[in-house]
Amino acid sequence: MRFEKIIDKLPACEVLAEVGCDHAKLTALAYETGKCGKAIVSDISEKCLEKAKVTLSAYPQTVFCVCDGIPEAAYYADAIMICGMGGHLIAEIIARYDGNAALLLSPQSHAEIVRRKLNECGYAVSEDECFKAEGKFYDVIFAVRGKQALTPMQAEFGVHWQDCNEALYEKLSKRLANLRKGGERTREEAERIAKVLECRK
Ligand SMILES: C[S@@+](CC[C@H](N)C(=O)[O-])C[C@H]1O[C@@H](n2cnc3c(N)ncnc32)[C@H](O)[C@@H]1O
Repeated sequence: MRFEKIIDKLPACEVLAEVGCDHAKLTALAYETGKCGKAIVSDISEKCLEKAKVTLSAYPQTVFCVCDGIPEAAYYADAIMICGMGGHLIAEIIARYDGNAALLLSPQSHAEIVRRKLNECGYAVSEDECFKAEGKFYDVIFAVRGKQALTPMQAEFGVHWQDCNEALYEKLSKRLANLRKGGERTREEAERIAKVLECRK
């Protein structure tokens, strides 16, 4: 379900790169659904790359690289997918990239750091969705080269926070219930969350 949600956001491309691929199940799904013709998959861990080679054995056009961040070979991919890492690490990887590929990102945490970094690095977020899969909440963000200045609310809660979809509503309602136990210390964040939740009423 998480894999499907992410690959749904991927436009069809000739060359896809997946950074931090681990088992490379996301790339396998991209091939299976006809979203890419060729893939470059990389991981900082050689062991993970071995798993990826098994998963993608039916796709001999795949290039495998052990690399910290985005490998040279992936520089001119049409899209680069970085998913399942924390927001700080994704932001740090993006900051070192100066190519023009579209970026499909799904941070496990701190999506706000990723959104801010995208704008700082000359990327504009065009799609941004909070979703729930297997009982957990995730964000999936698609960005292309372009100027954008997200508002603080967009950076924190997503570009489309005013639409407040069901998953975002559920995630933030839980967060708000916890914050309310914090009293004055957490009042400002609670107020911002209440403003998002209002949009769904
Ligand atoms: C939790 S897995 C995510 C796998 C897959 N992308 C997914 O979403 O299902 C994170 C992967 O990122 C890799 N990784 C961590 N830091 C990295 C870096 N600096 N450069 C490349 N890969 C990295 C880890 O070795 C691990 O395989």
